[in-house]
Amino acid sequence: MQDNTRTISMSQFEQEVYSGLTASPKYLSSKYFYDEKGDKIFQDIMAMPEYYLTNCEYDIFENHKSDIIKLFTQESKSFNLIELGAGDGKKTKILLKHLTASHIDFKYLPIDISQNALDQLEKSLQIEMPTLQTETLQGTYLETLERINSLRDTKKVILFLGSNVGNLMHQQAVSFLQQVQESMKEDDLFFVGFDQKKHPQTILDAYNDKSGITEAFNKNILIRINKELKANFIPDKFLHWETYDPETGTAKSFLVSKEEQLVNLQDLDLTVSFKQWESIHTEISQKYDDEIVSWLADRSGLKIVAQFSDHKKYYKNYAFKKI
Ligand code: AVJ
Repeated sequence: MQDNTRTISMSQFEQEVYSGLTASPKYLSSKYFYDEKGDKIFQDIMAMPEYYLTNCEYDIFENHKSDIIKLFTQESKSFNLIELGAGDGKKTKILLKHLTASHIDFKYLPIDISQNALDQLEKSLQIEMPTLQTETLQGTYLETLERINSLRDTKKVILFLGSNVGNLMHQQAVSFLQQVQESMKEDDLFFVGFDQKKHPQTILDAYNDKSGITEAFNKNILIRINKELKANFIPDKFLHWETYDPETGTAKSFLVSKEEQLVNLQDLDLTVSFKQWESIHTEISQKYDDEIVSWLADRSGLKIVAQFSDHKKYYKNYAFKKI
């Protein structure tokens, strides 16, 4: 691995796995959960009763769709509706149906890292809303933000739902929000879902379901590494562990080695040793309140212009404009 030519030829996935598993403490990035199998398990997560986030955002859209649409269509007749990380678009479809039924002139631009997810979304939209103008864009948030920049002329409404922002630590979130802010013009809107602080047990249950779906989701990253980097992780030798700190609002997922073990990653020419009870940190799912969101907005050059909550106040969508 000291060989430079080899380092240069490593993919980003390989590099990040290498850095994470040779670091102390060990870590892996949650963005690598989402291969085809991970996409499927995440769909199962969204359908579990414990994972309240999806239902809350769905409720907000159902109950406030008129006000949300009013906000989107303020000051202009036509706009581009851009969704970062669209996935299956289940919640967005509520708005799309309402917008199409109201004969509003707009184009929907779903962006996702998974081409598979985009293909399925496009197919379902053709069937459910044949008149809808759609253009799918495959890529990471960063790449696609550049493409958003080239859409400067028409008003933009940018959606970032599902509390996906929660996978970013505050500093990363600020730099991400700043980049979106830079791509915005005065009338553009940025509409973001933020899961709220609540009873710690409710949060722990959402990320530690008894049926083991979240456990399978977390361990899928090991299976992916096995497949893509010729490694020999034995998932059963790791424990899914979830923590929530009510002070910071940070939920964290870990994989904890149940025993002392060696794991070989052939493609990386790497053997990783685990002590018994050594952890791999795999994900953060940040929880927010109004104060944190205002603080993030402030540092990103954004202002909150509207907010919508579900009845239980578990979850909020905030609309931002450029300061
Ligand atoms: C898709 C990032 C919003 O953190 O709540 C679900 C992913 N991880 N269960 C989240 C996830 C474990 C989810 N996000």
